[in-house]
Amino acid sequence: MGTMTDLLYVNGGTPLSGEITVRGAKNFVSKAMVAALLGEGPSVLRNVPQIRDVAVVTGLLELHGVTVTADDGTLHLDPSNVESAHVADIDAHARSSRIPILFCGPLLHRLGEAFIPDLGGCRIGDRPINYHLDILRQFGAVVDKREGGIHIRAPRRLQGTKIALPYPSVGATEQLLLTAVRAEGLTELSNAAIEPEIMDLINVLQKMGAIISVDTDRVIRIEGVDRLNGFQHTALSDRIEAASWASAALATGGDIYVRGATQPEMTAFLNTFRKVGGEFTVDDDGIRFFHPGGDLRSIVLETDVHPGFMTDWQQPLVVALTQAKGLSIVHETVYENRFGFTDALRGMGATIQVYKECLGGWPCRFGQRNFYHSAVISGPTPLAAADIEVPDLRGGFSHLIAALAAKGTSSVRGISLIDRGYEHFMDKLGALGADFSRD
Ligand code: EPU
Repeated sequence: MGTMTDLLYVNGGTPLSGEITVRGAKNFVSKAMVAALLGEGPSVLRNVPQIRDVAVVTGLLELHGVTVTADDGTLHLDPSNVESAHVADIDAHARSSRIPILFCGPLLHRLGEAFIPDLGGCRIGDRPINYHLDILRQFGAVVDKREGGIHIRAPRRLQGTKIALPYPSVGATEQLLLTAVRAEGLTELSNAAIEPEIMDLINVLQKMGAIISVDTDRVIRIEGVDRLNGFQHTALSDRIEAASWASAALATGGDIYVRGATQPEMTAFLNTFRKVGGEFTVDDDGIRFFHPGGDLRSIVLETDVHPGFMTDWQQPLVVALTQAKGLSIVHETVYENRFGFTDALRGMGATIQVYKECLGGWPCRFGQRNFYHSAVISGPTPLAAADIEVPDLRGGFSHLIAALAAKGTSSVRGISLIDRGYEHFMDKLGALGADFSRD
């Protein structure tokens, strides 16, 4: 990072309009790729976007003996040679991602041990891995913290277990699924996360031969099996990317057809989009999001686990809220530190104040703990061009939206971070009529 090509000049103030396509969800595709490690035969994953997270996981799989070939959005993953691979040092690849921790279960089943380096990922909170390690220990794994990472081994076959999560963590639920499917006996997880990306991972695991049931009360039960096969699957669409473009349409007064966007996974977003004053139409191939003209309305919003309003939708939408009339309140309850990106928006003329209190909703677990996790946005305020540095993936996209909405030429530095999760975003900006140039 920090190269010359990492800088984008954006001449904002024109509505984004046109059509773009969204492919498979980053936060599902990477997990499905890890699931392929569990199969005895090859797997095929379709609708895979060309994003850096996919390249990172590809590298990690290859290090462990999985053959990965890609052609036009289809990945072929062959894990036949994993057993003969040694425990790889995945250090070099891991820095930018949180996926390596999900290799634990599959590697314990196949190799009996794993070394997982300290993790990367966006700096939007402390992002501990205590739930993951507790889960692995409960299956019978032995975890040693070492310099630079953790060493983990299974002295004997992992044993099914009964676990209740303190919070419905997406990653911890995936950790449990990827571990329990080949453990001995029954596993029960209560307070599980039930995000659509997790449901699609369950689809994949079921195709491989797993036995998994999901109850309406966040309880997931898995009957371990002795072997799993490969799978063939088409990834569900990226609802975070779809919502990001929807917010871009709203913030710039534009009109964007997002081919590939799907309604069932976006219910909470669409409700909020409508309440703010955005309009949308759904058809079989995608969703058109547009600003109908007139004033946007302020709202009170709380992020939450599924089926609530996703935390990843929050940052792009906040940019649109700077253009809404009145006071909006956003209470972030998933990550304790996801409002850092508002500094840059303030620098562009937005009126945003952040608070430690739980505003506009229920007290959350961050309430008494000194985190600025509520924001009050007062609008509408015109945005002015500025020099911006991308802080994290979603915050970075939000800055890009702000620069596109602002009159004048902004410089946005660190845009390679956006490649982690937004496929060909500059081509898409071009297709939508944005005026920008690379350094
Ligand atoms: N948590 C713990 N201990 C743990 C794990 C999580 O305290 O061991 C806490 C976290 O600190 C956080 C909360 O639980 O406050 C929720 O975290 P979760 O585990 O659900 O998040 P994750 O699995 O690390 C995934 C996505 C995120 C997305 C969240 C919530 C991936 C690779 N990442 O993260 O996506 O925000 O779920 O939906 O799937 C992004 O795409 O930009 C992104 C950050």
